Amino acid sequence: MKEKLKSAIKGNPFIVWLRILFDKIGESFSLTLYSGSTNQTKDIFKKQAELQIRIHALEKGMSIGTVKVGFGKEKAFAIIKDLVNLLKRGGAKQFVVESVSVLQKYVEFNKNMGADMTEVERYLHKLCSCYDIQIMDVGGIYNLSLKEISSKLKSPFDEFSQLRFSVRDFGTSPLNIEHVYAALRLCERTPSACNRQSWRLHVYTENKLVAKMFKLQGGSKGFNEQMQCAILICGDLRNYGFYEQNLPFVDGGIYAMNLLYALHYYGVATIPLTMGHKRRITKKIKQEMHLPNHEVPVLLIGVGTFKDNYKVAVSHRYSYCEYVKLNQ
Ligand SMILES: Cc1cc2nc3c(=O)[nH]c(=O)nc-3n(C[C@H](O)[C@H](O)[C@H](O)COP(=O)(O)O)c2cc1C
Repeated sequence: MKEKLKSAIKGNPFIVWLRILFDKIGESFSLTLYSGSTNQTKDIFKKQAELQIRIHALEKGMSIGTVKVGFGKEKAFAIIKDLVNLLKRGGAKQFVVESVSVLQKYVEFNKNMGADMTEVERYLHKLCSCYDIQIMDVGGIYNLSLKEISSKLKSPFDEFSQLRFSVRDFGTSPLNIEHVYAALRLCERTPSACNRQSWRLHVYTENKLVAKMFKLQGGSKGFNEQMQCAILICGDLRNYGFYEQNLPFVDGGIYAMNLLYALHYYGVATIPLTMGHKRRITKKIKQEMHLPNHEVPVLLIGVGTFKDNYKVAVSHRYSYCEYVKLNQ
């Protein structure tokens, strides 16, 4: 009798709602304190993180197949101004060196396309001379070829994994959907918490649905029309207890990376696209795409084919030594 009562209380929706509410309130304090959205003016680390997103946006722009000549000048001016402020406030010089190097690539890229970049260059040089910044060979774009990539798709992992890039410059040859199915089959082996396999996938290939999905996601402007398929990875909340609300994103994230590699293995061009939106937007996406209420969107993958010659953003990576602590 006591056990029955205990399990009835445990599973009672009102009790669970209270427990979730209690957890979320607790969580909201550290989220408010540590979230990148707060105190950017005081916290240099947060400011750097925000700047990195804006610098990467310029790099992404360079990797879009049909980018406008001289794009992003206003953004570049604002970034340079903020980099100067960052240095004045004691920000990491190495970060500024890397940022300036990406900006230099951005200037060269636009100049090569025939844009007048004199003003941006002048600002950039002023920053470099005032703070003794030596430009490095960091960031920008790589020009790749389908021939080169295809010959390495079945290489050992250490080579294969280094050749997957987010593509924003897709080809027009039709996507072979059998390759998508083959990749999905490989991903059946993805590990998950307690082997729950709670990912739910929505694969869109009809033009109208593909276009609608990318428009709602909003992060593929300039190349959304080149993609032929959209794969939305969601997590099924019914598989998780109230205390494991982040696990759908962990399981879904692991699945997503596996799928990116699997698609690459079959010669399919991809790009991961964020589903981290404000609640209002997520709600709209769920409604418009008729997603079940018990699913949470984890990641969208844009899918297409490779061009014979295409470009990708370099997206400079830190050495693992910068974020790995061994026995500390
Ligand atoms: C969770 C996630 C969300 C992303 N969202 C977007 C996006 O909305 N738009 C975009 O152009 N790229 C997006 N990207 C691609 C990243 O910019 C890219 O993965 C990163 O710069 C590393 O480059 P790489 O994928 O070529 O190695 C996203 C990547 C991840 C992992």
